[in-house]
Amino acid sequence: MKIDCVVGARPNFMKMAPIIEALRATPGFEPRLIHTEQHYDAAMSKVFFDELGMPVPDLFLGVGSAGHSEQTARVMIEFDKVVAADRPDFVLVVGDVNSTLAAALVAAKRLIPVGHVEAGLRSFDRTMPEEINRILTDVMSELLFTTSEDAHANLAREGIDAARVRFVGNTMIDSLLKHRERARAASTALATFGLERGRYLLVTLHRPANVDEPAALAGLLGALGRLADERPVLFPVHPRTRARFREFGLEGEIARHPGLRFTDPLGYLDFLALMESAELVLTDSGGIQEETTVLGVPCLTLRPNTERPVTISEGTNILVGTDPGRIVAEGLKVLSGDRKTGRAPRYWDGRAAGRIVAALAEWGRA
Ligand code: UD1
Repeated sequence: MKIDCVVGARPNFMKMAPIIEALRATPGFEPRLIHTEQHYDAAMSKVFFDELGMPVPDLFLGVGSAGHSEQTARVMIEFDKVVAADRPDFVLVVGDVNSTLAAALVAAKRLIPVGHVEAGLRSFDRTMPEEINRILTDVMSELLFTTSEDAHANLAREGIDAARVRFVGNTMIDSLLKHRERARAASTALATFGLERGRYLLVTLHRPANVDEPAALAGLLGALGRLADERPVLFPVHPRTRARFREFGLEGEIARHPGLRFTDPLGYLDFLALMESAELVLTDSGGIQEETTVLGVPCLTLRPNTERPVTISEGTNILVGTDPGRIVAEGLKVLSGDRKTGRAPRYWDGRAAGRIVAALAEWGRA
């Protein structure tokens, strides 16, 4: 089975790496790795391939940054040329970024079956670009690989036949469990940033709703600044967020809080090491809600909703919204020792990629 595995943006890489590895180790599969280059900075892309032991992609599509429609369209145009020249038997996409939707749409139009890894997650918030990507990718998919059981009810509600759905677990956690020891041993990030294990906060923010509006971003920075009066706060800044700091003239607000430390986006191993030793993580990322749950580190999600409710019901995640007062109050609670504990959800066990490959083999035989 010739399988095109498409990745485009940072959170795709750790989800696809274990699948590529499992496909390559299984006779009968011929995977081809295609990078759309939605993310292209070395710090957003290349470092992950190196650290995750991913092969160099067979093809790069050179898509880059653009508005949502244009970016999606560019991926479609370029990926369509690829499948027209050398038609795969199957296309595999992961997550919910624009590249995910675009590749699935190309395959569906050419009647090539699509598999969606991380199917069925729903925030029920259609103002999030990712929600549209999730719904549309799922509806076009022949095989839907889910990370948690709540996804099954979401898919059933949308009329998706349960016979197409496979509960396999979380391949992002496959990567985490595989590289955890190495991150501990190899990363010097704590020393580099002068941080003490269990006595600092780690932050990421990049969602349009949080960073593209001046008042919202200033409010979040104010809350982080207040927490930085208690503990050092390390904030690796996504390029999108960095651009907004400049555009909105927020450097003054930042300078008022010496405990607030900014750095460029970090590689996989450094970020994993920093998450594992943090006292608290604050984020608007999807994947980090899952990773902190498995690491047992408290996480405050700075969003009004989450498509990953299992991280709240079973894990260490608390949805706190974006009100600065609430963020500070919940943050101080954790710093006073009131820490939410949790457990890893079912099948977040390091073997999800193996289940996907087994399901693909079975589907191919049918
Ligand atoms: C994308 C995904 C989001 C994911 C995030 C992880 C969509 C709709 N969004 O958001 O789901 O959580 O990736 O990071 O697909 N930029 C660079 N260098 C890069 C990449 C981006 O400078 O390598 C800058 C550009 O100014 C670009 C902006 O970041 O316009 C946003 O990039 P884009 O890929 O459009 O969306 P993300 O915010 O990264």
